[in-house]
Amino acid sequence: MAVLIIASHDRPDWWLRELEQRDPALDVRIWPDIGDPADITYVLAWKPPPGALASLPNLAIVFSLGAGVDHLFTDPDFPAHVAVVRVVDPYLTAGMREYVLLHTLRYHKNQPALDQQQRDHVWDDRARELRRADEQGVGILGLGELGQACGNALVGLNFDVAGWSRSPKDLPGITCFDGRGGLDALLGRSRILICLLPLTPETDGILNANLFSKLPKGAFLINAARGGHMVEEDLIPALESGRLAHATLDVFREEPLPGDHPFWDHSQITVTPHNAAITDPRSVVIQILEDIGRHQRGEALSNQVDTGLGY
Ligand code: NAP
Ligand code: GLV
Repeated sequence: MAVLIIASHDRPDWWLRELEQRDPALDVRIWPDIGDPADITYVLAWKPPPGALASLPNLAIVFSLGAGVDHLFTDPDFPAHVAVVRVVDPYLTAGMREYVLLHTLRYHKNQPALDQQQRDHVWDDRARELRRADEQGVGILGLGELGQACGNALVGLNFDVAGWSRSPKDLPGITCFDGRGGLDALLGRSRILICLLPLTPETDGILNANLFSKLPKGAFLINAARGGHMVEEDLIPALESGRLAHATLDVFREEPLPGDHPFWDHSQITVTPHNAAITDPRSVVIQILEDIGRHQRGEALSNQVDTGLGY
C-alpha cells in the first residue's frame, strides 16, 4: 500500500512532510516518480493530468486537495469505481467566510464607488445615503459547507440573507430557495449575489446574461466558486450597461488569468488570484490519515463525494 501525491501546482513537498511526520511508516511517493503503479492505493490530487488515475490498477480512494472536485471529473478517463473524498475543513471554511465578509461589506458600504471618488478628488454628500444591513438583500448560490458558513456569518451582521440549493433546506435566519423553480425568486431579492456552487454540468455557465437580467439593477457579484460558472463574455456588457455595478472574481476559466485578459484593467472588476480559501495541509492530512484508517478497517469514509452528482 502506497500513497501518491499528484499536486504539481499545490505544494507537494509540504503534503509529503505532513504525511511523513504523522505516519513515518507510510510509503509516500510524488508524481511522476511513482515506482510500480500497482503499489498505489491512495492518491492525494489537485488537477491530476488526464489518464494519470486510470493508470493505477489498485487505486481505491482519491483525496481531492480542495473542497471542489471538478478538477478530477474533467478527466475523461477518471476511473468510475474509485471513491472520492473532498476537503471539508474549518480553516478552509474560515478562509471563505473571511473572503465573503470582506467583499460583501465592501459592497454594502459602496466602497468601489468611494475609491473612484477618492481618485477623482470628489466629496459627494450622497455617499452618506447607505442602506441598513437588514435592507441589503444578499443571495448565496449554494448552501453547502461554505454557503451556510458564509450565510450564518452574514445573518450575524444582520443582512437579509437568502440562499439557493438543489434540495430543500430550512436554515435559521436564511430564506431558502431550491431547484430551478426557486432560482428567480432568489435572484430578484439579491442586491449582492455570491456564487458558492460546485462546478457540475448543471451549474456550468450559470452566471450569464440571463441570470444577470433577473437581479436588481446595479447588483454586485462575488464569484468565489469556479471560473466555469461564469460566461465571461456576458460580464463586461452587464457591467457597462449598469445591469451590474461591480464584480469580485476569485476564479476564472483560465488560471492563471492571462496577462492580456480584459478583466485585469476593468474599473468595475476586482480580481483575486484564486486565494479565497486555501487548503491547509496541517489539518487536512490528519483527516486523510483517519480516512485511510477507516478504509483499511472497512468503515465508511468522511466527506465522500457523490460521483454521480459530481460534488
Ligand atoms: P458543498 O458543501 O458540496 O455545497 C454545494 C452546494 O451547492 C449545496 O448546497 C448544493 O445543494 C448546491 N448545489 C449543487 N448543485 C446545485 C444545483 N444544480 N442547483 C442548486 N444548488 C446546487 O460545497 P462547498 O464545500 O460549499 O464548496 C462549494 C464550492 O466552492 C466548491 O465546489 C469549490 O468549487 C468552491 N471553492 C472555492 C474556493 C476558492 O478558493 N475560491 C475554495 C473552496 C471551494 P444541496 O445542498 O441540495 O446538495
Ligand atoms: C479551492 O478552490 C477548493 O476547491 O478548495
